[in-house]
Amino acid sequence: MTFSIIRVARTVLHVTDLQASRDFYVNALGFIETEHDEEHIYLRGLEEHVHHSLLLKKADKPVVEVLGYKVEKEEHLTKLEALFQSQGLKTKWVEKGKQRAMGRALRVHDISGIPLEFFCEMETVERMLQRYDLYRGARIQRIDHVNCAVPDVQKAYDFYIDQLGFACSEYTATEDEKIWAAWLHRKPTVHDQAFMNGKGPKLHHFAYWLSEPMSLIHCCDVLASMGYADAIERGPGRHGLSNAFFLYLRDPDGHRIELYTGDYLTSDPDFKPIRWDLNDPRRQTFWGHKAPDSWFNETSTFIDIETGEEIAVHEPLLEQKKPEFII
Ligand SMILES: [Fe+2]
Repeated sequence: MTFSIIRVARTVLHVTDLQASRDFYVNALGFIETEHDEEHIYLRGLEEHVHHSLLLKKADKPVVEVLGYKVEKEEHLTKLEALFQSQGLKTKWVEKGKQRAMGRALRVHDISGIPLEFFCEMETVERMLQRYDLYRGARIQRIDHVNCAVPDVQKAYDFYIDQLGFACSEYTATEDEKIWAAWLHRKPTVHDQAFMNGKGPKLHHFAYWLSEPMSLIHCCDVLASMGYADAIERGPGRHGLSNAFFLYLRDPDGHRIELYTGDYLTSDPDFKPIRWDLNDPRRQTFWGHKAPDSWFNETSTFIDIETGEEIAVHEPLLEQKKPEFII
């Protein structure tokens, strides 16, 4: 590999009402607001030393503009450009200064059509980890992962493993050993990027890491107190797959955010991917309770890196099972 992707580093979401988004993400969930202007809010977690990991842009439609990955060195961006171009995939540069606090960025569409952005440079800011006086809501710490529905998980898996240098921590397989879902990482945790079999490409959710489960429980209380009980879609619970303690929320535009804590280290090269059977219900909820239909059926739409048009979606290659077997 002639480049090194460090980790998933930011999500750019379009939202229809910036104040409603601020109330939810900052006042209820406890994100730190680095700055804002008429059309943007830049948010980060308490642990993050970078300008932002979540950018909310005011727009007419609540779509997903791009999923961002940080690379180790600036020159890795041109290596990535060559790779994507060699595969006939669309690429586009966003020059330094065009995006607040960001160096030059390479935007591409991956093998499934997902809009990705690679960058090396982002302004650094004060890390709030020990500003306990600022802890509130879920005490959001840092971005952890993104999860996308794609129609061909095997194709996405092969591209990320073989071309981008990701490793697999866990996966779900069908009886005839087809990959139904995969959890892939660059940083040494369970994942940066997950893929699930489904109509796509679509963003299922993006996730933030918390330091312990009580932050998540406290967040439920805060949400209920502030009139956001309906935003709680699934959980709290524990995933079998990843072992993480989880809570899924829907923001005011319907984008899904997961609060996540309690996964494990995957740094060792001899770590063997953990296989889950598609018929094992413990993989999605270790305690056995089921997710609501909305969790399976509702996802966020991506837009084209050049035109801004919504990306066409395709039906999954593998036959869809009953909802409880989808993850
Ligand atoms: Fe997740």
